Parts: sequence; C-alpha cells; structure tokens
Amino acid sequence: MATETPVATVTTAEDLQAQLALAGQDGQKIGFVPTMGGLHAGHSSLMKASVAACDFTVVSIYVNPLQFSPSEDLATYPRDFVADSALCVAQGVDLVFHPSVEEMQKALPRTPVPVSEVAGLWEGANRPDHFAGVATVVAALFSLVGPCQAFFGEKDFQQLAVVQQLVRDLNLPVSVVGCPTWRETDGLALSSRNVYLTATQRDQAPVLYQALKVGADLITNGATNRLKVEAAMTEVLKTADALIVDYCAVVDPQSLQPVEDFEADARLLVAGCFGATRLLDNRAVQEGERYGSC
Ligand code: PAF
Repeated sequence: MATETPVATVTTAEDLQAQLALAGQDGQKIGFVPTMGGLHAGHSSLMKASVAACDFTVVSIYVNPLQFSPSEDLATYPRDFVADSALCVAQGVDLVFHPSVEEMQKALPRTPVPVSEVAGLWEGANRPDHFAGVATVVAALFSLVGPCQAFFGEKDFQQLAVVQQLVRDLNLPVSVVGCPTWRETDGLALSSRNVYLTATQRDQAPVLYQALKVGADLITNGATNRLKVEAAMTEVLKTADALIVDYCAVVDPQSLQPVEDFEADARLLVAGCFGATRLLDNRAVQEGERYGSC
C-alpha cells in the first residue's frame, strides 16, 4: 500500500526560521498561509494560491487562545493534525509550523499590537478582544516568517481588513492577498465550525448566503436605500427559526461603515448563531460563486 510522504513540520520558532533562512538563501519567494487547522477546501484554495504565486509555502496551524473569549469554543475547536497534514501534502505545501501554546507564547510581542477602528465594528462589537487576539498572533507569525505574501480568506472579511490595516500601520514587509470564499453547493460558506451544526441547523444554515444574495440582487437591480436592503435581508434570515441574527449590514469595503452611496462598491455582511455555533458570511455585490472542493 502506498503511504503518503508526510509534510515537513517544525514546532519551534527556531526551526521555522532556520528552514526559512535556507529557502531565503536560494532567493525563494515565501508564501504564508496562517490557519488554526480544521482545514477544508477554503484553506486548500489559499494554499493553492500560495503555491502558484510563491516558491516556498509555509502553513501555520495554531489554535490561538487569545482570539477566543472564555465562553467560546477554544477547548472543542476542531484539531486533527493528521487530516490537516494530508491536505497540506495534497496542495504541495513545503513546510508546516505547528507550535504548542507554550512555544507560541514565547514568540508573542510584549508590546500590545494595535488594532484599527475597523476592529471595533460588527464582530468586534460582539467579541471585544477577538481582533486584538488575532492581530497579536498574526504580528508574531509575520515577524517569524519575515518578508512574504500572506494568504487570507475573504470569508473572514473583517479579519482581512484588520490584518491589512495592521500591515499598513506597522509597515510590515508582508503583501496580504485576499482569496475568495468557497461554498457548499447550497451556498453555505466553508468554515471549520460547520462541523458543529446539527442536522436541522445545517439545513437552515444556507439562509445566510440566501440573504446576501437577496441583498446583492436588490442593489444590482437599482435599490439605493440601505435600510430597505438590510430589511429585505433580515426577512430572509428570519425564515430560519434556529438562527439568532447578530447583524446584517451593507458596508463600505474599506472602512466597514454602513454605506450610503450604492454606486460605490458595497460589501454585504451577515452573522448569527445557530445554538452555540456562530457563523458569518459576506459577499461583494458582484461576485462569482466557488463551490465544492478546491
Ligand atoms: O483565520 C484564522 O484561522 C485565524 O484567525 C488566524 C488568522 C490564523 C489567526 O489565528
């Protein structure tokens, strides 16, 4: 029986930097995909983009305690290193960085990492320390990896905006690349947390995407009143009785503030909870869909 070669893995900052220094000596362009594991086709698409654009791709797998509040799912967050490594091998990843919490803690900056005003909106309003936790670990990872192209999913659109602002503010030698969301055939955005959904919740979960589509179609067909578009989206969300809606908004894609001018490029955001499972989704007004496995 053929056995797959395991992906090269390092668990310490020192070994990561030694491997990257070797790659750097050969002048290789570094691609970086930061993840918390629980990898799926959405992550595969990030790895694929990195492998296509860069000479050496490193994926980090680290469930970052700093971005979970005490009531969130840190303990139960999906952890399956064997399945994750297999996916990395399949996508041609060169190196996985898989540190322990203790190892990562040594690499975290003691100086607080700034987050911009974008971090206080939407997800940040509900989860006050979340983006500070993301920014702290992402800044530490960027400083370990050094100059690179870093690939993030647009599924977490606000996270992408926070990271882009972080890179601009600190003038980090990182080029941040946003990659499109991947979806199940019924429109549900791929997320590591989808595995938590019960059968009923899973049946209802595509409602998030349906609401985004209704909003986008209204704008495409000439709607100019944000509140009316948001109300129509909310009506769609209400059809899922298992969903507690958190927000549903039409925003400016840079500032993430509610948009007034629909001639400008708008972004539609939705988030809510099915039981303890928080799901978020977003889309541009004009956007092609990507379904299934990458
Ligand atoms: O998107 C994620 O998986 C995480 O928020 C990230 C960027 C890896 C930071 O922990």
